[in-house]
Amino acid sequence: MKDAAPKTIYLQDYTPFGYIVDDVHLTFDLAPNATRVTSRIAFRPNPDAEDTRFFLHGEGLTLISARINGEEVDPELSPEGLVLDVPALPFIWECEVEIDPANNTALEGLYMSNGMYCTQCEAEGFRKITYYPDRPDVMSTFTVRINGDLPVLLSNGNKGDSGEAWAEWHDPWPKPAYLFALVAGELIAHPGTFETCTGREVELNLWVRPGDEGKCAFGMDALKRSMRWDEEVYGREYDLDIFNIVAVDDFNMGAMENKGLNIFNSSAVLASPETSTDMNFERIEAIIAHEYFHNWTGNRITCRDWFQLCLKEGLTVFRDSQFTADMRSAPVKRISDVIDLRARQFPEDNGPLAHPVRPESFQEINNFYTATVYEKGAEVIAMLRRLVGDAAYAEALDLYFARHDGQACTIEDWLKVFEDVTGRDLTQFKRWYSQAGTPRLSVQDDWDDAGTYRLTFTQSTPPSVASPSPQPQVIPVAVGLLAPSGEEVAETRLLEMTEATQSFDFTGLPERPVPSILRGFSAPVILEREVTTEERAFLLAHDTDPFNRWDAATALARTTLNDMALHGAAPDPAYLDGMCRVLGDDGLDPAYRALMLALPGQSELAAAQADAGHRPDPMAIWTACETLRQALAEQAAEMLPALFEACQVTEPYSPDAEQSGKRALGGALLALLTRLDGGARAEDQYAKADNMTLQLSALGQLIRAGKGDAQVEAFYDQWQGDRLVIDKWFMLQVVQSTPDQAASVARKLTEHPDFNWKNPNRFRATLGALAGHHAGFHAADGSGYSLLAEWLIKLDPLNPQTTARMCAAFQTWRRYDSDRQALIRAELSRIAAQPGLSRDTTEMVTRILG
Ligand code: PHE
Ligand code: ZN
Repeated sequence: MKDAAPKTIYLQDYTPFGYIVDDVHLTFDLAPNATRVTSRIAFRPNPDAEDTRFFLHGEGLTLISARINGEEVDPELSPEGLVLDVPALPFIWECEVEIDPANNTALEGLYMSNGMYCTQCEAEGFRKITYYPDRPDVMSTFTVRINGDLPVLLSNGNKGDSGEAWAEWHDPWPKPAYLFALVAGELIAHPGTFETCTGREVELNLWVRPGDEGKCAFGMDALKRSMRWDEEVYGREYDLDIFNIVAVDDFNMGAMENKGLNIFNSSAVLASPETSTDMNFERIEAIIAHEYFHNWTGNRITCRDWFQLCLKEGLTVFRDSQFTADMRSAPVKRISDVIDLRARQFPEDNGPLAHPVRPESFQEINNFYTATVYEKGAEVIAMLRRLVGDAAYAEALDLYFARHDGQACTIEDWLKVFEDVTGRDLTQFKRWYSQAGTPRLSVQDDWDDAGTYRLTFTQSTPPSVASPSPQPQVIPVAVGLLAPSGEEVAETRLLEMTEATQSFDFTGLPERPVPSILRGFSAPVILEREVTTEERAFLLAHDTDPFNRWDAATALARTTLNDMALHGAAPDPAYLDGMCRVLGDDGLDPAYRALMLALPGQSELAAAQADAGHRPDPMAIWTACETLRQALAEQAAEMLPALFEACQVTEPYSPDAEQSGKRALGGALLALLTRLDGGARAEDQYAKADNMTLQLSALGQLIRAGKGDAQVEAFYDQWQGDRLVIDKWFMLQVVQSTPDQAASVARKLTEHPDFNWKNPNRFRATLGALAGHHAGFHAADGSGYSLLAEWLIKLDPLNPQTTARMCAAFQTWRRYDSDRQALIRAELSRIAAQPGLSRDTTEMVTRILG
């Protein structure tokens, strides 16, 4: 493997498969080490294809027998699959293979988790189950028979016959193989029903391991709300008699939208007030919605090839964020999404891993399930909607569903429905799909005494390997104007920028206004504008746009933190005063105030410093954040106790937006108070907590204050039987450690008997937490880098997918000083030099090294 030159796949090389699949029959004889998979597949020549080679993917399969039209055949086998001469007429392919699910540690294909069989086929896992044209443009109906002595046997579609130790399933909707799923095990159903808008009754089940029954109610409710919402907002009705969700402990990602049988990482579906935080509840609600929404955007209309991944993912993320905005607070959701975009997508888009929302080449598709494809992909749709308006968006989506149902589509198909509905030419807009990099938008303003205010924007995108000479993009810039008195004098107007430099005039104004630019974060760009502290403080106090008001707070924080970290400045009083005013403003939603209080991420501060030509010092950034928080605690000292009191919830626990907002603000206040009271309130909250949100926020503050040893132990004793809570215990100790301790805390945790490193959740809770601890990971002695590299090297042979994803922790390496660069380069080279390194990790390390 190692010596074989890595193969690159190109979008431009797409050709259709030479055969059409009309029907697939699969029989599984389950056995942990020797599962037999028998397939019977009806093929016919594809009249639209030029290449008639009959190639079926297959990896790690033991071929037992193969037949064409009942006649034994002898295909030519390779590590990637098989080829065979076949008739130029319709024919039946039959094949029997053997696989070893118990030894499948990659968690792709058919594998086992706690004695339960389950599958993960996206993107290219079906080829580890049987020989098949494992590409999304090959769609077929599936009939599945499962033979196995287990109480629950599930697959896609509707239930067929069943009996003692066997069950049949039939999926009438043609689907690509990546949506195939099978689950078998000792599972318990949390049942429900849903009546669709046309009055059909759908059976719902959430399947869990015995012991987890008490953690299903919220997920079931979220599923029903998702189903209703998709009917009401997108006119999409569910299309089978049954919808099953299964919770699995060992899973590489969050969840998977297999047709009628969604499989979830248990952390993305199981919830109870005692064991899950408010944030867990919100995430679970969003992921359930996301996977459910894929039924139409992904399954009924799927992707022609994996380059089109954003066709389903960008759209489905956009839809799930609309859902969350409807269920909860729209401004809070928008701000949270932008925080996430800046934290995860911007570093990707501005580093060695930069790629377009629709990539043009890859070696391993698993490496392209990225923040760019998902989150920037969703931002691109949000921009499109802003540009065409809500009504045209709705019409375009109706046309998309009507025109492309049952098809495997491209971004061209997607844009065409918008062009057809609006008459717009989206050629330039399409650059959002084809160009990598985050556009920088600089702004200049002019005022003339005749009452005209002019904004001049200049856009430029830094060149990258993926896009060496970026062209101007269509940037929707939402702008409002405020009078110096604080009153809004021009409501939000959407400026449509298409040129490299472009001016827009606002006329008839009585005096020079203060602009509020990029309201609602109307485009995923970096706004570069010299703004005085006074102006930011003014926007923080007066902007009517909740996003920009919040952004003024983060910009103030960023400016003062960078001044502190780079020049040893003192905390800016404008920031402290502004925050105290926000804190005391009862008119503001507590959840919103909690977001206002949060400081920008330390990695994001480092990025801003690097952008401005400095070498960020992670320790100086950490110290600046600590100092600023301490200064804020001291300045707000008098108001904090009463505010904290007001955040106490007396009603029974509910994960709804209102209560969780109060707890979020309460948590932020507790963090400030703990800097003043030595941990008294945190101890008290910990002792009294009857839900995980309060328990965990108290524990976090105690650990940070260096006073949590007893509670850390008590927490472990209380929760050692609950793997999802113990993940939090691992994570929190790393997250709340001081920079000099982070790597040693993480290393010690890897020696804990509960550090089951083969479980992706536990691995991420420990080493992912270290990678996310900016100053700890970047400790000057390189201890963070070497610990992560050591474990990635260990994990790669077992689970390449999770290993490769976590390599991204190194992607920002060129920002830092030459000593750190040398340390990181050495670790990346050490990883790259491992014999037999997976294709996944090889591609990531190679790209990061550049
Ligand atoms: N398609 C899944 C989703 O976003 C993500 C996923 C990809 C899960 C690959 C597993 C493997 O909903
Ligand atoms: Zn998805």
